[in-house]
Amino acid sequence: MSEYQEIRDLASKFADSELAPLAAQVDKEARIPESTYQKLGENGFMGVYVPEEYGGAGMDYSSYAIIVEEISRACASTGVLISAQNSLAIWPILEFGNEQQKKEYLPRLASGEMVGCFCLSEPGAGSDAGSLTTMAEDCGDHFELTGTKNFITNGKEAKVAIVFAKTKKTDDYKGMSAFIVETETPGWSVIKCEDKLGIKGSSTAQIALDKVKVPKKNLLGEPERGFKVAMATLDGGRIGIAAQALGIGEAAFRYAKSYALERVQFGKPIASLQAIQFIIADMSTKLAAARHLVADSSRRKDEGVSYSKEGAQAKLFAAESAMWITTKAIQVLGGNGFIKDYPVERYFRDAKITEIYEGTSEIQRVVIASLELR
Ligand code: CAA
Repeated sequence: MSEYQEIRDLASKFADSELAPLAAQVDKEARIPESTYQKLGENGFMGVYVPEEYGGAGMDYSSYAIIVEEISRACASTGVLISAQNSLAIWPILEFGNEQQKKEYLPRLASGEMVGCFCLSEPGAGSDAGSLTTMAEDCGDHFELTGTKNFITNGKEAKVAIVFAKTKKTDDYKGMSAFIVETETPGWSVIKCEDKLGIKGSSTAQIALDKVKVPKKNLLGEPERGFKVAMATLDGGRIGIAAQALGIGEAAFRYAKSYALERVQFGKPIASLQAIQFIIADMSTKLAAARHLVADSSRRKDEGVSYSKEGAQAKLFAAESAMWITTKAIQVLGGNGFIKDYPVERYFRDAKITEIYEGTSEIQRVVIASLELR
């Protein structure tokens, strides 16, 4: 058995036994139970590619993408929890952090003792991330951060945040710096948690920063190079979201397929109707293509080859496929697809966000086109 098959089997077993039975409840109550966080930490899923010397599971990015896919197949809310933890909170520290920062934060993030989040978006700065207005004032031995951050995944639970703020006032991305911020610092507050269409178990918070003191040692990377930290982090994060979309699509595909084989109309299972067969064929083909894109972009990342375009392609295709597959899955189930007794309406609601966060499908096209046309 290949190493990746073993990882898939392990993650799949965990997802089916620990997450799938709770997924409907997580959606309904809009909360992931505390025990799940603990189990994710114990199984190494909170720090998949953190090297063992920093307390992580020491796996590669390809393994991480497989784990996100399998977990999202069972519970998309838990999928984004680990995706934001690994791709958005841990990766920038691993890539841009100094030794002291790595030693201080990675073991606690990898064990799950600390949940992490990524604070880039603001009420006035979404796709145009460079236009953010949160300011970081230089106060000698520390900075003071003031501003508002929007749509922050894990924002309610996070103990540590990667925050982007301007150390120099500009209208564009220049002047932006990245910081590691401990959320228990006075001045940090969760203003509200959003009530959402899907991934309801995962928190999405609006955060206010009011003169939050950040020691100079917590500047992440070079001053005024924060936009590059954000963009490079999102390049990898997008592979994680592609894997999440793939997992949601796979869940809807499996459900639609087994339903079509059992549901009898006109005296035979609906799977014998060509209208249904063509849907199943297209679902299967889209999933196979998306899985190749996710695997290829992850492999490139592991091999140190450029992956910005391939990650954007994987996210664009996997997200739009997940939306198509979950919509068609409802159609295969008919009226049953529309009611909460069956899980496909949840898959449909969960799929939508994969076309939006970590860059909308339109932004993925901008990224792909700009890399193709230069
Ligand atoms: N890696 C490193 N550097 C990069 C880069 C990358 N992938 N992409 C661009 N840059 C650099 C450029 O080289 C350039 O650097 P120089 O100043 O040295 O020339 C600089 O960044 C500016 O590049 P652009 O001119 O291309 O930047 P832009 O302002 O036109 O923006 C964009 C490009 C692709 C539209 C970008 O703003 C973007 O990705 N927007 C979407 C933001 C996004 O994904 N937000 C989601 C937030 S996270 C989230 O969803 C919440 C959550 O918690 C899950």
